[in-house]
Amino acid sequence: MTVAAEDFELVRSLVLERSAIALDGKEYLVEARLAPLVEREGLGSVADLARLLRSGSARLSDEVVEAMTTNETSFFRDVHPFEALRTSIMPSLLDANGRVDLWSAGAATGQEAYSIALMVAEHFPSRPGISILATDLSRAVLERAKAGVFTQMEVNRGLPAALLVKYFERSGREWCLRPQVRSQVTFKQLNLVGSLASVPPMDIIMLRNVLIYFEPAVKKQVLDKVARVLRPGGYLFLGSAETTYGVHDGFERLELGRAICYRKTREGTSCP
Ligand SMILES: C[S@@+](CC[C@H](N)C(=O)[O-])C[C@H]1O[C@@H](n2cnc3c(N)ncnc32)[C@H](O)[C@@H]1O
Repeated sequence: MTVAAEDFELVRSLVLERSAIALDGKEYLVEARLAPLVEREGLGSVADLARLLRSGSARLSDEVVEAMTTNETSFFRDVHPFEALRTSIMPSLLDANGRVDLWSAGAATGQEAYSIALMVAEHFPSRPGISILATDLSRAVLERAKAGVFTQMEVNRGLPAALLVKYFERSGREWCLRPQVRSQVTFKQLNLVGSLASVPPMDIIMLRNVLIYFEPAVKKQVLDKVARVLRPGGYLFLGSAETTYGVHDGFERLELGRAICYRKTREGTSCP
């Protein structure tokens, strides 16, 4: 299935406007991601889909934007941030404030937020005052995340066997996270490019592997807003290939063991 230049341009500008995801030069991705939607809708081609988009189908516009999100994730992804949270950040925040508010921004199917919830269940079981918010642009991935049901392949990626046995129940070929862990996470649809006014102040923000999809100016805008949500003394985690350097000067880099995180500089606390 090939995409005509004008149809690609329609999809590129729709996705950029709605999600800030930059698709320049990624015709192959548009083709691959829209093929299942074209089939599901009983259409013959992306050209048919584009025609419906031009006629103003709001539902299909949402579906196209969602189809262009990349939802790759895994349990305890990159390991080191979770080690730093467990051994250093969570204990010091709990001792200092008696509570910790954590936000997984761009949570995809929930493995990141549930990794934190599993860590809390294992290592801070009797500590009240730990809240975990998980948000994503895509309603479809949030539905999957809320259900807390994972395939064998998903649990094979990063989840220690001891945690699988202790906190999941097998259901046919899938694994269901037990409700007491699942209920620790609040899921909510949120576009990082829109207003973050509904997000309460946070001590820890996991904004990992999300900024990579945005243009530099959008990365800066999102980091500006995230800086406002982050409490003074809070911690920001980015993906292992991401940095605030050259993008936003309101953060300083901190190494905690083998983890890298960012804290607001004094100037960064009062972003204009
Ligand atoms: C690659 S996943 C990262 C998942 C997880 N943070 C991790 O590192 O494993 C990126 C997620 O960002 C979400 N996303 C992309 N653009 C977004 C936006 N404008 N607002 C909110 N979420 C967005 C996508 O839907 C996707 O689920």
